[in-house]
Amino acid sequence: MSAEPADAPRILCIVGSPRRGGNSDRLADALAHGVDAEGGVAVSVAVSLAGIAPCKGCGTCERTGTCVVRDGMEDIYPLLETACAVAVVSPVYFASVPAQLKALYDRCQPYWARKYVLHQERTGAKRPGALLLVAGGGDPFGAQCAVTSTKSVFGVLGVEMSHLAEFTEVDKPGDIEMHPGAIAQAESIGADLVRASNIARAQRAHEGLGRLG
Ligand SMILES: Cc1cc2nc3c(=O)[nH]c(=O)nc-3n(C[C@H](O)[C@H](O)[C@H](O)COP(=O)(O)O)c2cc1C
Repeated sequence: MSAEPADAPRILCIVGSPRRGGNSDRLADALAHGVDAEGGVAVSVAVSLAGIAPCKGCGTCERTGTCVVRDGMEDIYPLLETACAVAVVSPVYFASVPAQLKALYDRCQPYWARKYVLHQERTGAKRPGALLLVAGGGDPFGAQCAVTSTKSVFGVLGVEMSHLAEFTEVDKPGDIEMHPGAIAQAESIGADLVRASNIARAQRAHEGLGRLG
């Protein structure tokens, strides 16, 4: 087994579907393949397996900048903080994202508190980010809520949504394979995130800022 290069940029891929082996998983695999081909390391998190409780709105993070809830999110915070880029791959559920993914989003409240209450702004250029959505289609309300809430979370994480891809008429597991160009597009987005991460890392080094993973 070959070891990954120590300086390979790590791309966090958050998979929002509770259905294992479905369309989001397939796209996430393709994205990881693109990351790998470009010399990066994809770190995948399936939210439905991560054991993330919803935010309880206690407000402690507004004083401390950290969350009091002890659960699976404790493993995800460091990944969110050190990733060179963040990708979210998710189905659309009732025009938004599945509850398991929304729980992760809401547990990002400490980053909101650090930015807007404690004024601990993240330094340096924004990190690249991607949102890939799959949707059955036919719902008249589209996917704008999913896009907006992801952008809101990316905002407090210091991530810019550099790529947005929505694949509709993708419903049963495997439908994504029939969607023209979807798999290739996910691979290409993975590779783009690595390239953009390398540029952002060079910029951070130039500015004398700390390294990301
Ligand atoms: C609870 C639930 C809500 C859904 N809501 C929508 C919706 O609002 N709009 C839509 O186009 N598809 C909707 N879908 C269909 C899924 O987005 C679609 O089946 C998708 O391909 C599932 O992705 P997965 O295979 O990664 O789980 C919904 C599916 C479920 C189970």
